[in-house]
Amino acid sequence: MPRAHIELDKRAVIAPVHRRTFGSFVEHLGRCVYDGLYEPGHPSANEDGFRMDVVALVKELGSTTIRYPGGNFVSGFRWEDSIGPREKRPVRRDLAWHSLESNQVGLDEFARWLKLTDSELMLAVNVATRGILPALDLLEYANHPGGTALSDLRIANGSPEPHNVRMWCLGNEMDGSWQTGFMTADDYGKIAARTAAAMKMADKDLELVVCGSSGSAIPTFGDWERTVLEHSYDYVDYMSCHAYYQELDGDLGSFLASAIDMDYFIDTVVATADHVGYKKRSSKKINISFDEWNVWYLKEHQESQKTYDEWIYAPRQLEDVYTAADAVVVGNMLMTLLKHSDRVTSASLAQLVNVIAPIMTEPGGPAWRQTTFYPFSITSRLASGEVIRPVIQTAKYETAKYGPVSVVDSVATVDDDQVAVFLVNRDLDEPADVTVDLRSLGSSRITEAVTVSDADVRATNTITHQTRVTPWLNTSAALCDGVLSIRLPPVSWSAVALRSRGDHQ
Ligand code: AHR
Repeated sequence: MPRAHIELDKRAVIAPVHRRTFGSFVEHLGRCVYDGLYEPGHPSANEDGFRMDVVALVKELGSTTIRYPGGNFVSGFRWEDSIGPREKRPVRRDLAWHSLESNQVGLDEFARWLKLTDSELMLAVNVATRGILPALDLLEYANHPGGTALSDLRIANGSPEPHNVRMWCLGNEMDGSWQTGFMTADDYGKIAARTAAAMKMADKDLELVVCGSSGSAIPTFGDWERTVLEHSYDYVDYMSCHAYYQELDGDLGSFLASAIDMDYFIDTVVATADHVGYKKRSSKKINISFDEWNVWYLKEHQESQKTYDEWIYAPRQLEDVYTAADAVVVGNMLMTLLKHSDRVTSASLAQLVNVIAPIMTEPGGPAWRQTTFYPFSITSRLASGEVIRPVIQTAKYETAKYGPVSVVDSVATVDDDQVAVFLVNRDLDEPADVTVDLRSLGSSRITEAVTVSDADVRATNTITHQTRVTPWLNTSAALCDGVLSIRLPPVSWSAVALRSRGDHQ
């Protein structure tokens, strides 16, 4: 049986836990908005048409910042279409997802939905097919208090208070051939710099995200980051990273190690950003907004993509049903994001409802939690204070994709009241007995120990079996003389919370 020993030292602080690490993403895509979070005829809908059963699940998920309205969608979007009297809003074709957009939900409605869920808005502007002026207009409409044409229009549209959006994305995945209006790194770097400079003339405290590569497998990865930042470094604050993982060719071992790739991806983008910074003799650091990450059965999506001959509203697209193994990978990726809290200060699980999402809905019917909901909600609830880098002694297993990989991975957080330890066992067959030396953190008793796993790693939650996979109390967890011991089942994610003695400083 694999064994692992983990040392946690209160001096090994990486950075604070950033609440924005637990962000998510709502795109006008498939049934994320329409027939997802918005369904006027649903029994739980409020006066705006938002499903309150979905709102309750979003709050339980603990997502913080929500990126909106895309995604690929944003590159064909005219924001002005989605404000004002609903009956006057135009229907448009969305080329990105080959569907019809009714514009019945726009910025003002979405801002009200965010209030219901206690979330922060992260707004994307269309730099692909529009330009600087529409971006400035949107900024004025969203953030200016009043007394100008567009801020007064917002007030007239029923939003007297400015939305005060702090984080803005300068387009989306501009390197992708699938992106409406895709660009070269040079072209994008220039337009991103000019758009960012103009937006900061309006408000120098905005936090602007420039597009990195759409994935680390893209041939231009690295060069894209360097070129884009050479143009835009002085004007932007974040560079985006996007990563999706899936099990390919039945290679579960490699899939379970996806966090290794995410780790490498972050290190490479940070190194590239710092390289440009050093070249510019800049004291400023560009942080990472990991604003799309998840498990996505993308290969199946690409293979099943047909040439649509009809345009319809809210088609069922990208409705992946997640397994117990997928939940372990999602939990492990969140651990990697926490381990990079010194530079990854914002992240968005893509997406939130129905579209590669932790929350699923049925029109007129229930809303339920996918397997991946649990590691996210539990980590968001328990992680606080500072992130501690663990020293992990563990066996390795061989993967086809990444070579030898640690069986057990972990990260911990600590604040004055609580220590939280997050753990995965990637072994396909064997449980792992783990000891965690917490003496340096001064923990006094276990308050919670939960595991997400299933004897069938392919088990899922569906409309007919909504609670097939749920977290269970891990009664093997015990604390003795400041050392935690716990048995982790094969292919499992776990979290243990302990009362801290409040002397971690
Ligand atoms: O999240 C789904 C899509 O994935 C987004 O629209 C796009 O940015 C990415 O390719």
